[in-house]
Amino acid sequence: MNDQLWWQRGVIYQVYPRSFQDSNHDGLGDLPGIESRLDYLARLGIEAIWLSPIFPSPMADFGYDVADYTAVNPIFGDMDNFDRLLAAAHERGLKLLLDLVPNHTSDQHLWFEESRASRDNPKRDWYIWRDSAQDGGPPNNWLSYFGGPAWTFDERTGQYYLHQFVTKQPELNYRHPEVLPAMLDVMRFWLDKGVDGFRVDVIWLMLKDDALRDEPPNPLWDGVNPHDSLLHIYTQDLPGVHEIIRSMRGMLDDYEGRMMVGEIYLPLAKLMAYYGRSSDECHQPYNFQLINTPWTATAVRTAVDEYEAVLPDGAWPNWVLGNHDQKRTASRVGFEQARVANMLLLTLRGTPTLYYGEEIGMTNVPIPPECVQDPPALLQPEIAELIGRDPVRTPMQWDGSANAGFTASGVTPWLPVAPDYATVNVARQDQDPFSMLRFVRQLLHLRRSEPALHSGSLQTIPLDNDGLFAYRRTYPEADSFLVMLNFGEKSLQVDLGSVAAKATITLTTRLDRSGAVDLASLRVAANEGLVLRLPLAQRQS
Ligand code: NOJ
Repeated sequence: MNDQLWWQRGVIYQVYPRSFQDSNHDGLGDLPGIESRLDYLARLGIEAIWLSPIFPSPMADFGYDVADYTAVNPIFGDMDNFDRLLAAAHERGLKLLLDLVPNHTSDQHLWFEESRASRDNPKRDWYIWRDSAQDGGPPNNWLSYFGGPAWTFDERTGQYYLHQFVTKQPELNYRHPEVLPAMLDVMRFWLDKGVDGFRVDVIWLMLKDDALRDEPPNPLWDGVNPHDSLLHIYTQDLPGVHEIIRSMRGMLDDYEGRMMVGEIYLPLAKLMAYYGRSSDECHQPYNFQLINTPWTATAVRTAVDEYEAVLPDGAWPNWVLGNHDQKRTASRVGFEQARVANMLLLTLRGTPTLYYGEEIGMTNVPIPPECVQDPPALLQPEIAELIGRDPVRTPMQWDGSANAGFTASGVTPWLPVAPDYATVNVARQDQDPFSMLRFVRQLLHLRRSEPALHSGSLQTIPLDNDGLFAYRRTYPEADSFLVMLNFGEKSLQVDLGSVAAKATITLTTRLDRSGAVDLASLRVAANEGLVLRLPLAQRQS
C-alpha cells in the first residue's frame, strides 16, 4: 500500500437518503434502509459514503433547509439509527461523510425564529436583514437561484431577509462574530461522533457584499434562466470567504483523518483558490468540469488537460459526473456511452464521486406534473425541464419486484420509480456477467488493487483520431495502465506502437474480451472503453 490517504485513494459514493432504501414502508428512504444496503456498497468497492442532509427539516428544499443541525430527521430515523449506521459503515471499512449546509438554515431553525422575532433580538444579525429600497421593493437586485428576488419581506419587523434559494432558506450572516463559532460547534458535534468529514453545501456563497451593491447584468445571458441574467460578483466567491473556510479546515484538522469537500461551481482558475494558499482550505473543491463539458473525446481531453495544468502543487484532483442536482449520466451521454463515462470517472487521476444508481445506468425519470416536488421546478414551471431535479432523485432500483425493492409493494414512493426498473436493477445486473454493474464493480476493485490507477500520475496521449481519448496512469515500481475511450459509434483502429509493442486487456466496458493486444494496430469497438496493462517489466517510457 502506498502513503495516499483514504480520501485520495478511494471513491466517494453519494447516497440521497430519501431515495436509497425505505425500511418502514412510508415511501421514503431512511437510515436503517441505508444500513441494510451497506454490504452492497462494501462489495461494490467504494471507500466512503456521502449522505445528503439527514437533519430535521421542513423539507422546503428536501433537507437543504436545516431546522436543527445536531439531530436526525424523524423521517430518516433517530440518533441511535445514525450511530448504528456509522458503526456498521466503519465495521465494513467504509467512511461516512455528512452534508453540512452552513450558508442558510430553515426558517424554522430556532436561530431564525429568534432573529425574526424583533429587531433587537440578540440573534437579529445572525441573518441578513435590510430595509426596503426607497420604492418599497427589495433592498437590491439580487436574485434567487430558484426564481424571483433573493429577498423576502417579513411583516413582523418590517424588513427584508436574504435567501438565494427558496424563501424558507434564510442566509446566515458570517460577518456576525457568533455565527462561524456556532457552525464550528456543529461540525465538532458530528466529528466527535466519529464522522469522517463533510461535503459542504455552496461553500463559495457563504459571504456577500456588505454594501449590498446591485449585481451587473450578464451581457452573455441566453435569456433562459433568469438567475443567469446577472453577474454574481457580490454574492459569490468574495475574497473573505477563504478566511471562513480556513477556520473550518483548521478545526477539522484537530481531528485525525477527516476531510472536507466544498461544493463550488466556478471557472477553474477561481476554483483552485479553494484548496487554499497553504493547502489549508478544502481537501477537495468539487471539480464539476465533466458535467458541463460537451461529450466528445476532444472536449473531454481538453478539460482533463486544463484541469491537470492548473492544479496547485500538492493539490489532489477530484472528478464528478453527476449528483442530485444534475442530469443522470446515461441520459446525458446515452446508455452506451454511460459505461465509457464511468470508466473515465473511475480511471482519471484523483478522487471520483459516484452518484447512487450510476453504477447500474439509471436514467432521468419523467415526472408527471402532479408528482413534481422540486422547488425550482414548481416555481418556474416554464423551465422545469432545465432546472427540475426530481428526475435524478428517484428511488434506487434494487430488483424487479414492485417498487423496485425500494419500498414495499402497495406503498407509494415519494417520487415515481423509473419505468425501466424491471430491466435496469441491481439484482438483475448482478446475475448478468456483462452488465454495467459487473463492469463498475470490476473496475472499482481493479482501481483499488492497482497503485497506478488509484494514485499514479496521468499523461494524456496525443492521437490522430478525434473520436478517441487515451491516457496513461503510471506509478513507480508498479504496472502502468493505458486507458482508451471511444466516444463514438464507429469502431476505430489506432497506432500506439510508440507507447509499447504489446499490452494486455485487463478490463473492457463490455466485459467481452481480454488477453494480449498489439498496440501498433489496436482496434477499439464503437462505444468501447479499454483498460490495458503495461507490465512493469516491459515498460519503455
Ligand atoms: C446545493 C445543493 O446541492 C442543492 O440541492 C440545494 O438545493 C442548494 N445547494 C441549496 O442548499
